[in-house]
Amino acid sequence: MPIFEKYKNNYMETQVVTGAFGYSGKYITQRLLNKNITVKTLTNSIHRKNDFGDKVIISPYHFDNPELLKASLEGVSVLYNTYWVRFNHSTFQHSEAVANTLKLFDAAKKAGVKRIVHTSITNPDKNSKLEYFAGKGVLEEALINSGISYAILRPGVIFGQEDILINNIAWMIRKFPVFGVFGDGKYRLQPISVEDFADLAVEQGAKTENVIVDAIGPETFSYWELVKSMSKILLGKERKVFSMNDEIGYWMSKLIGTIKGDKLVTREEIKGLKADLLFTNSPPAGNTKLTEWVQKNRNKLGMEYANELKRRLNRTIAYKE
Ligand SMILES: NC(=O)c1ccc[n+]([C@@H]2O[C@H](COP(=O)([O-])OP(=O)(O)OC[C@H]3O[C@@H](n4cnc5c(N)ncnc54)[C@H](OP(=O)(O)O)[C@@H]3O)[C@@H](O)[C@H]2O)c1
Repeated sequence: MPIFEKYKNNYMETQVVTGAFGYSGKYITQRLLNKNITVKTLTNSIHRKNDFGDKVIISPYHFDNPELLKASLEGVSVLYNTYWVRFNHSTFQHSEAVANTLKLFDAAKKAGVKRIVHTSITNPDKNSKLEYFAGKGVLEEALINSGISYAILRPGVIFGQEDILINNIAWMIRKFPVFGVFGDGKYRLQPISVEDFADLAVEQGAKTENVIVDAIGPETFSYWELVKSMSKILLGKERKVFSMNDEIGYWMSKLIGTIKGDKLVTREEIKGLKADLLFTNSPPAGNTKLTEWVQKNRNKLGMEYANELKRRLNRTIAYKE
């Protein structure tokens, strides 16, 4: 390879993506590389199997060393932050993710990062009783007050090859003759495709104005309708859906999760769903319809269970092998 080819990216902009070998970070990284931007990732999984070869510069997060964290962000124009933890566990906590993200914002400011594209959640609220939504609210406020230019993206559910929620709904539709939903199943979801989400993130990375975008897809489903629509596409017939008391639903999910060595759903997630917190009144930010995507992927979606804990406990395997 000519020397210029090998080193040309060194003279171009460097941007950081957290978790480039994870889910949404991978799609953002691919788009930045396509634009010939030099990409560095901060990750907990420096040895995770990935398709980028030596195209991505890899650094651990260094949350325990502010100077090293700052150094890893020096010369960086845009930081795409996806870092978060989905639930509390003996080895990771929401509170730790909040504290670490505050360190990340602080280091970015000191390092002179020009813009942060930050992934949040629909309806964050620092006063929420639900730690996920409260933590995201605290982080949004900190970023807004940091003085760094920002784009805050708020997805509710992101679907794609490596996704967990939609995949595991499909898995349960395939496995069980009936499908139980928590309560009346009327709470809503507006899933966005990971490709559309990454397009939005990269588009926002190139801008300068401060924005908050509800990163939702073009279709709105009640949970009940989602199961019905997906089962029709996957099985050619609608699964019988029934309403479950939350506690019974939780314990059934707990049993499945335990058999799989995972947490399928948490009590907090059930409360968030039922409080309609994954729904917004905003216009869609992505065009890809979940129903069309499920149709295209009907031969593979939900064939295997997607295990959140396995991703955390084994940091060398790809999210989807
Ligand atoms: N996926 C969705 O459906 C969805 C829906 C709404 C909002 N979001 C938000 O979108 C963002 C990205 O989500 P994603 O699904 O794309 O995430 P992801 O790739 O699985 O993880 C993103 C980053 O967070 C790290 N991380 C995740 N869980 C962790 C844990 N338990 N302990 C330590 N580090 C952990 C990952 O570590 P590694 O570096 O080891 O990979 C990676 O660096 C998050 O902020 C999330 O709140 C996602």
